[in-house]
Amino acid sequence: MTVRPRAADGRRLLVAFGATGDLMQRKLLPAVYALARDDPPDRPRWAILGTARRPLDDGTFRRQGIAALVAAGAATEAAAARWAASGLRYQPLGRESAADYRALAARIAEVEAELDLPGDRILYLALPYDALPGVLEGLRSAGLTRSRGYTRVVIEKPFGRDLASARLLNRRLHRSFAERQIYRIDHYLGKETVQNLLVFRFANMLFESVWSRDRVDHVEITVAEELGVEERAGYFDRAGVVRDMVQSHLTQLLCLAAMEVPSSMGADEVRNEKVKVLRSIAPLRPEDVVRGQYRAGTVGGRRVRGYREEDGIARGSRTETFAAIRLQLKNWRWQGIPFLLRTGKRLPHKSTQIVVCFRTPPVWFFPRSSAAVVAANRLTITLQPDEGFELAFEVKQPGHDIRLQTERLHFRYGEAFGPLPDAYQTLLVDVARGDPTLFVRADEVEAAWRVYDPILRRPGRLHPYPAGSWGPPAAERLARRAGADWSAP
Ligand code: BG6
Repeated sequence: MTVRPRAADGRRLLVAFGATGDLMQRKLLPAVYALARDDPPDRPRWAILGTARRPLDDGTFRRQGIAALVAAGAATEAAAARWAASGLRYQPLGRESAADYRALAARIAEVEAELDLPGDRILYLALPYDALPGVLEGLRSAGLTRSRGYTRVVIEKPFGRDLASARLLNRRLHRSFAERQIYRIDHYLGKETVQNLLVFRFANMLFESVWSRDRVDHVEITVAEELGVEERAGYFDRAGVVRDMVQSHLTQLLCLAAMEVPSSMGADEVRNEKVKVLRSIAPLRPEDVVRGQYRAGTVGGRRVRGYREEDGIARGSRTETFAAIRLQLKNWRWQGIPFLLRTGKRLPHKSTQIVVCFRTPPVWFFPRSSAAVVAANRLTITLQPDEGFELAFEVKQPGHDIRLQTERLHFRYGEAFGPLPDAYQTLLVDVARGDPTLFVRADEVEAAWRVYDPILRRPGRLHPYPAGSWGPPAAERLARRAGADWSAP
């Protein structure tokens, strides 16, 4: 069950490019369904016109959509069919000729007239990088970059393949759209717990006052996945986790954890601060990076194949499925404090967490026998699953002797609020409202690529690791060189 964010007012047409793809079927469709399932059939607030190369008709597209909603656990077949009959339509893009785009424009106008829509449009581009120039040109040639209402364009990540391609893509986009029409999506920013990082930091003086090099020893950001490459070999083998996860999701978490307080919650004020974090990152050196690739192993009690044996993956592939990276922020708040990022496929279980590890006391005046190790306070922010916080601190065990023990204070979102809304729902509502705060700005996406460009240009060694482990031993060594140990997720 998902919770609905406050609905956006108004009624609009979402034109979904790449509508037969994995993202559309698994994420976007269930999110739109959750926002729109109770709409009157003749006045939907969210109507979808899917488009892709495949020559489908409305009926076939609806059947696929119904199957996707049922598979995602979003609806029963009957409920999905009821909604699809009014909410889903399809227009093939054929060979993507100018005539195909004119036909698309005509179909958009027809659907808007049929449903009496005001002309507000969201063009959702869930497309690989290579497909974007053609689509942008097609939209321009058919006059689809403007309408009598608003036209907003959503672009899925990864935005480009490196700094040069991201710059080029920004230039191409700006030829047809103003920056305020462009929504570069990173679904991590729609997660409640990720947004809560700002509230947690800036509404609680208790934490903000210790959130700096004066009290923090290092910060760890882990995004671990149990899943392997699944059905996305074609995409993933060309991307790897640095493009797929680090440049986007982990970097966004880093920005929110490290940024200064913005002067307001305005979209530009928040994003300005994130850009400042990105620009403060010292150039990556080869010794700051460990790339890994999974071999066969056991995950969740199940024997799984190695990455190179997966369907659709080249036998000699050198694509990384794991990365551990040490970043240094050259600014007043964080100078000298390592930020350790780690992500991987086929790790023991799914877990996204930020651990702020505080310094140990400067002088230890308890007897040596009081503790096996001098434990540092750790604040663990779990972003998924079982979202919440945990603060580890030392207490005295009762008794005559001084003996210390680590105890924990917990907060769990689920206990306090119940289920959280889905990130895609939150972000779609923001697009409809015209609020770009949780989307990535042009300069921000370029600044993020600039950080990782050295790894992409010279990827370096690839360390194998067994599926079901926490990555290659080299990742442990990387942390140790920074004076840290990865916390258990
Ligand atoms: C996507 C990546 O952006 O995020 C996937 O392309 C990854 O490879 C997914 O599995 C993880 O998202 P979440 O929300 O399940 O943590």
